[in-house]
Amino acid sequence: MNETNDESLKAQVREYWNAHPCGTQFTELEWGSKKFFDEVERFRYGTQPFMRPLMEFDNFRGKRLLEIGCGLGTDLLQFARSGALVTGVDLTPASIELVRRRFAMENLPVDARVADAENLPFADASFDAVYSFGVLHHTPNTQKAIDEVYRVLKPGGRIVIMLYHKNSIHVYLGAPLFRLSHRLRPGARTLIEDWVRVYDGAENPLGKAYSRMEIRGMFSKFSNLRTIACDPIRRKYPAAVNWLNQKLLSRRWGFWLVIKAGKH
Ligand SMILES: C[S@@+](CC[C@H](N)C(=O)[O-])C[C@H]1O[C@@H](n2cnc3c(N)ncnc32)[C@H](O)[C@@H]1O
Repeated sequence: MNETNDESLKAQVREYWNAHPCGTQFTELEWGSKKFFDEVERFRYGTQPFMRPLMEFDNFRGKRLLEIGCGLGTDLLQFARSGALVTGVDLTPASIELVRRRFAMENLPVDARVADAENLPFADASFDAVYSFGVLHHTPNTQKAIDEVYRVLKPGGRIVIMLYHKNSIHVYLGAPLFRLSHRLRPGARTLIEDWVRVYDGAENPLGKAYSRMEIRGMFSKFSNLRTIACDPIRRKYPAAVNWLNQKLLSRRWGFWLVIKAGKH
């Protein structure tokens, strides 16, 4: 894939997420109201209570933390409430506008900007921590974005990044079933990418997933790399299925792969 194609694909990615800021799909409320933000937050951590400790919302007090692809800023707000000095970037003006409004309502400071993960507008070694949840697999050049994370991270800094996991039950079972009822989308590179893409909406132009081995290669410049697989709790499944999955399967074959590492 050449750089020109990347830019036109990225324009599609921007257009999609600008029209569907992440989280708005879970509520009917008018975007940007206090009720709306509260509802988005309640839904997110009500459904996925394990996120708070796993994403380490409380571990960065007094630290300069950058979130890449902050969407509505729901996670960024958790870091800020715990005392982190937060900066959030997203490719879409719609998200950044909502983040600014949300933080103003909370009376919390934030540097929120429209920016591209592949070309971050920050000097080298600017941040103690970089966080990104479900984002870098949506940008055409994921490796370039990871190299940018490394560049803006201070020596001694830490990352917490979630990317989709290829060796997961969601992909093993879902992709072949998807193929039975769908043709490969024109332009899709693989069946897996086409299936992963629709996880974020039928019209989402791009989604990718990686194996642990691929992740080790892509993050090879970082130190102390750990990957933790987990699965979102799915409300459409019976409680027993979710319980079994959380207890027995998701740590190995979960679809969310949380990457934690540092920089020497
Ligand atoms: C699935 S949403 C996740 C949003 C948020 N992290 C969350 O968990 O709710 C993906 C987000 O990534 C952003 N995004 C995609 N490509 C990006 C890029 N190259 N640079 C910055 N943000 C990007 C989109 O605009 C969108 O807000």
